Amino acid sequence: MLELLADTLDDLHAITVHFPIALLVVSAGASVALRIKSSVHLQHTSWLLLWIGTLGAIIASVTGLISHFPYEETELHGVIEVHQLWSFAVTAFFIVLTGWRWFSRRRGADAGTTPLYLVVILVGMVGLVLSGMTGGDLVYDYGINVRGVNPLLGR
Ligand code: HEM
Repeated sequence: MLELLADTLDDLHAITVHFPIALLVVSAGASVALRIKSSVHLQHTSWLLLWIGTLGAIIASVTGLISHFPYEETELHGVIEVHQLWSFAVTAFFIVLTGWRWFSRRRGADAGTTPLYLVVILVGMVGLVLSGMTGGDLVYDYGINVRGVNPLLGR
């Protein structure tokens, strides 16, 4: 039971990272669609997914920090830092974007319908891809947090 709990704690980052990635990508997709066809539903969808996705990025950053602690004093710390920097940057980026949109919505003029917003969220997508790619490298290139072995390879 304790082992299961410890394993789940180790896996929390891998479990939570999918939420910000999926939600923010679909939010950006809704924003692109909004430029093609004006729709209140798309506008609400892109807003809802933006703030929930941003919340997901904050949660992923916390679980990521937990995940990286066992490697803090190892030589892998350097490669983890690259991912950490991209991820913190992208999380801060989406917090600011959510704040900007929240204020604009309160003033009754949703910034999410403007061409500038579209450009900004697409820049955010580049950061999100870099965060996800550098995170994937940690697992698939460096085997960080991998506990199993591949029986087909015998190692
Ligand atoms: C927006 C925030 C973040 C996103 C979207 C993200 C994304 C990812 C992804 C996609 C993976 C590969 C998971 C897999 O294939 O199983 C990963 C792994 C990893 N990330 Fe992050 N990450 C974020 C924040 C952080 C932060 C702040 C740290 C702190 C150093 C961190 C540390 C790690 C570590 C150590 C791994 C490899 C082991 C594991 O999956 O637990 N991440 N990340």
